[in-house]
Amino acid sequence: MVLFGGTGDLVMRKLLPALYSAHRAGQLHPQGRILALGRRDADRSAYLAQMEHEARVHVQADFDAASWDSFLERIDFAKLDATHPDDFDALAARLGTDGERVTVCYLATAPALFAQICAQLARVGLNHPGVRVVLEKPLGHDLASSDAINAAVAQSFAEHQLYRIDHYLGKESVQNLMAMRFGNVLFEPLWRREWVDNVQITIAEDLGVGGRGEFYDKTGALRDMVQNHLLQLLCMVAMEPPASLQADAIRDEKLKVLQALKPFGEADVASKTVRGQYRAGAVDGKPVVGYLQEADIAAASRTETFVALKAEVVNWRWAGVPFFLRTGKRMAERLAEIVISFRAVPLHLFGGVTALQGANRLVIRLQPEESISLHFLAKEPGDGMRLHPTRLDLDVEATAQKRRADAYERLLLDVIRGELGLFMRRDELTAAWRWVEPILECWARNGEAPKSYTAGTWGPAASSALLSRDGASWHEEL
Ligand code: BG6
Repeated sequence: MVLFGGTGDLVMRKLLPALYSAHRAGQLHPQGRILALGRRDADRSAYLAQMEHEARVHVQADFDAASWDSFLERIDFAKLDATHPDDFDALAARLGTDGERVTVCYLATAPALFAQICAQLARVGLNHPGVRVVLEKPLGHDLASSDAINAAVAQSFAEHQLYRIDHYLGKESVQNLMAMRFGNVLFEPLWRREWVDNVQITIAEDLGVGGRGEFYDKTGALRDMVQNHLLQLLCMVAMEPPASLQADAIRDEKLKVLQALKPFGEADVASKTVRGQYRAGAVDGKPVVGYLQEADIAAASRTETFVALKAEVVNWRWAGVPFFLRTGKRMAERLAEIVISFRAVPLHLFGGVTALQGANRLVIRLQPEESISLHFLAKEPGDGMRLHPTRLDLDVEATAQKRRADAYERLLLDVIRGELGLFMRRDELTAAWRWVEPILECWARNGEAPKSYTAGTWGPAASSALLSRDGASWHEEL
């Protein structure tokens, strides 16, 4: 495994800890080697020292010194500057271009370098059938730049060699969604417009932009989270059953969902999207600064740190069902969940609860813990025939007594095994950008400032209003 950008944040925080976990669990080939590449003049021992400081602290659980030491034996470092062709000749000489050997090139670099790196790899013969290339997001800034990257890498690699990562697809609970839907007879008959009133997908973070101000200020929440993670989750909820678990069977179904998303016109953007930006507030009782006071943020920045929007999947299964998507930084808590809210019964027979809307909900929580809850009404104990809300809870983590791989670990192992199902195909990415781009353009044209919300809350009030227009409320408000 060759890690481009080997001294960078992603490699230290996510990739090396994930590879260590896989190593410790005996999931890596005994002869598997990891070569980190960076522009720095460093040697192996300096790199191992950096890992000791920056990677080891991010090992999630189950650390032990002996396995860490044996993991370090797999690691080496080499200097490579992506703009120096000679460095690639040296790389090829070192790795060999034997088509039998699986070589994973993980491009954890700025996307501006992807085309160049792929072209150089191809030039030195490192695009043989054993080579797989992992592309980290953001894959472009808009449709044109994403197309340009994809077209450039396609000159050097076949589509089946390209692994476009969306780490949300590696989360256990996202895969569990497929198991739930297509492994049981219980949910699928109800999983359609006749029975579903609305779907809500939330990825809320309590963190701010941290040290990524410069990147984030040019990006914003729509590009950073909606175009990829939220749309991928939407696809997993809305897709038809695939004919098999073959990668393309799944990706074909996801693509159809993206293609069925109703395009946003000018009026839709005004009425169905909410942009927000946090101001100073408190998270977990501790005061935090506002977005404009964070490091590397332009003084009068209009970048959104929150988005809520109403999407519609216009097909036979979903026509007329709103899909409310929401994400934000510095929100009330770290929470990722999918809520399927079912329709109300046709007749109110009982006393007790007054609002039947939203009484039946299936809540699939991805983070911070994995759980599935089914909300329904039951008889209030005691005299009379009154109803009260109740629920069935499944603590997914406690039920499955097995070690759980984190998203990056699972995805890295899939790349090594050559399994493409959890990676985005080029046409999916294009379809996602095609849907997102008019929203970005319209926001840019109207030049409105994002709505301010206090850090540590659920976002601007307009986010609740977006749902109430459809007679719905966000899950936590019910
Ligand atoms: C990344 C975004 O893709 O996902 C970050 O760039 C965000 O801004 C992160 O914080 C969230 O991932 P997770 O797995 O922590 O929910």
